[in-house]
Amino acid sequence: MTSSKVIASSIVLALLAITFAFFKPQQHLFAPPHVPGSKDHLHTAHTIHVTGAVGPESLVFDRHGAGPYTGVADGRILKWEGQEKGWIQFAVTSSNRTGCVRPFAPELEHVCGRPLGLKFDKKTGDLYIADAYLGLKVVGPTGGLASQVVTEAEGQPFVFTNDMDISEDEDVIYFTDSSTIFQRRQFMLVLLSGDKTGRLMKYNKSTKEVTVLLRGLSFPNGVALSKDGSFLLVAETTTSRIIRLWLHGPNAGKVDTFAVLPGFPDNVRRNPKGEFWVALHAKASPFAKWVSSNSWAGQALLKLGFNFKQLHSTFAGKKPHATAIKLSDKGEILEVLEDCEGKTLRFISEVEEKDGKLWIASVLMPFIGIYSF
Ligand SMILES: *[C@@H]1O[C@H](CO)[C@@H](O)[C@H](O)[C@H]1NC(C)=O
Ligand SMILES: *[C@@H]1O[C@H](CO)[C@@H](O)[C@H](O)[C@H]1NC(C)=O
Repeated sequence: MTSSKVIASSIVLALLAITFAFFKPQQHLFAPPHVPGSKDHLHTAHTIHVTGAVGPESLVFDRHGAGPYTGVADGRILKWEGQEKGWIQFAVTSSNRTGCVRPFAPELEHVCGRPLGLKFDKKTGDLYIADAYLGLKVVGPTGGLASQVVTEAEGQPFVFTNDMDISEDEDVIYFTDSSTIFQRRQFMLVLLSGDKTGRLMKYNKSTKEVTVLLRGLSFPNGVALSKDGSFLLVAETTTSRIIRLWLHGPNAGKVDTFAVLPGFPDNVRRNPKGEFWVALHAKASPFAKWVSSNSWAGQALLKLGFNFKQLHSTFAGKKPHATAIKLSDKGEILEVLEDCEGKTLRFISEVEEKDGKLWIASVLMPFIGIYSF
């Protein structure tokens, strides 16, 4: 790119930023879009606070249906034991928890650990943990200190381990490393810089080998296997897409676009029928869409010296909201549930369907939501 283009884009962005900060005429440019057919129902969810913690990113139930379990920002994995007992500490991913006392201390995440995606191995009852800083970890059914499974692939350490799914039939774990450059606390940089260093891996439990299946991904995030195991979905946050990697059958090894979403996807979870729930961190305003598809614009925006909060609100929209999307096993959008005004839920990270209820997580909020349908 020529330097005149950089200057021009910086001027455009600076003007946009000034417009945004001081006037309101361009509201729609930064407003979360209306999604046709969406139902603004999620505000009826009830919430359970994660006492003394924030950011329950992923939710999982064990093989007996107990839980949910969730990983929070101070590095702990908590288990919900019901109304009376509340949350108990189940596991940790780091042996050194000196100073891991504040609910949210991003500067300590590499010390305390930051558990993101969680999945139980139904055969053994072990809980696998994608820790953003410490790699793939595992802890037995009674919890405690998790042990290391794997921290690198092809000699390249994981920098932002994010999510996984387990194939019990094949005895392998599929998991993502969102970036080989930026850590979790710098996730806005992954989005804005146009980073394309994310990878999808396969861990073979019997050989303990890691294989890189896909590389060059733009913020690979949530992972979910199809019900019959024939394909794997990976949410690519920056491109607002769900991509599909065929594992078996005539297309094995091929990648295609499974769904294009109206915002930035986080985790993907399969429901008992074989459909998929995708949680959007936020819908993409026209501005966010433009920036995320033009990395030079994102890079120019970064040069303007905004702090994290400003960048996040410019990007994720000034109006926090919650959007959950149900996809068929063919990738068609079946249902869009929202809390458009963010009355109850905001910045959701995962939707787990169980017994007619949606259990809803958030990487930023201090609570989970439960929505009955
Ligand atoms: C534990 O972490 C603290 C930083 O929070 C560090 O100062 C200390 O050296 C660490 N201890 C060990 C045994 O690694
Ligand atoms: C895992 O490794 C074993 C032993 O080499 C092999 O037989 C099996 O096919 C591997 N599984 C997958 C899914 O790659």
